[in-house]
Amino acid sequence: TTGFTLSCAGQTIPAVGLGTVSDPRVDAETTRVAVLEAIKAGYRHFDSAFVYGSEKPVGEAIAEALRLGLAKSRDEFFITTKLWCTFAEGDQVIPAIKMSLKNLQMDYVDMYLVHLPLRLTQQMTKSPVPREHIMPIDLKSVWAGMEECQNLGLTKGIGVSNFSCKRLEDLISFCKIPPAINQVELNPFWRQKELMEFCKAKGIHITAYSPLGAHGTKWGDNRILGCNVIEEIAKARGKTTAQVSLRWVYEQGASMVPKSFNKERMRQNIDIFDWSLTEEEINKINQLPQRKGSTLASTFGPHDLVLEIDADI
Ligand code: A2P
Repeated sequence: TTGFTLSCAGQTIPAVGLGTVSDPRVDAETTRVAVLEAIKAGYRHFDSAFVYGSEKPVGEAIAEALRLGLAKSRDEFFITTKLWCTFAEGDQVIPAIKMSLKNLQMDYVDMYLVHLPLRLTQQMTKSPVPREHIMPIDLKSVWAGMEECQNLGLTKGIGVSNFSCKRLEDLISFCKIPPAINQVELNPFWRQKELMEFCKAKGIHITAYSPLGAHGTKWGDNRILGCNVIEEIAKARGKTTAQVSLRWVYEQGASMVPKSFNKERMRQNIDIFDWSLTEEEINKINQLPQRKGSTLASTFGPHDLVLEIDADI
């Protein structure tokens, strides 16, 4: 499928990948079957994370796809995974990526992201997380670990997720390898104007999570899929509301990882490249009210450090 060029040498990221975000109700087998189905539908980017628990089923599905000849080799895929907050310490980054690689049955990933600009002193067992487990991240030492991952060939590229302009500015001031990607919430209802401009100027590619508003998750809702303005455009163009939303994201120059484990909908989501939005349609979308869906406070609790990250743009 269509893709975007990244700042790290020779890397291209597919424009549409499959999100595999955790849902306690979704078991590993369901994820494995969905990933295999997505490979058949033409998906080549899979977005995973240690904390999602989806690394193993993603790895199994890819190994199976290779056995079945659905893809010729591992390097046809673009695999993203993320450093969880409990390992957000300099000396734990290499062990953490090695654990993820073992889960994935791979000897490298294509993109390794710092999941959040936050450290947890131990794995959270309940939500909200007790305040004493939440610590600021020491980005200098963590990023040095990330750079080592890339230098060792454990990942082709490194980046971040949920980083604001301010935090990126800080990272850029001392890094040796700049982040290739910032994965953030991006959709018609959270357009990230400042961050988009900042990242464009710095050569940092944006990957959109929750491009459809994460309907069905704890913090997602129906504001995109049920939006009248988007629905009207969809009707006029013979597309679905989801396709209009994803097309809008694509036209921002961002890649995206919509989540669907439904065969028909995952096919629909990757089929957005043979048309474009008119200026009038874009203007209508760009007037929709803005609200961040994925607040960390809903998972971690309304603690000072968490609220600070939520308030960042
Ligand atoms: P399902 O997995 O049953 O398709 P996001 O990508 O923003 O996190 O949104 C994911 C949510 O949107 C899931 O509930 C998913 O449900 C739903 N979804 C994904 N693609 C479509 C689509 N094309 N049409 C309607 N709902 C969709």
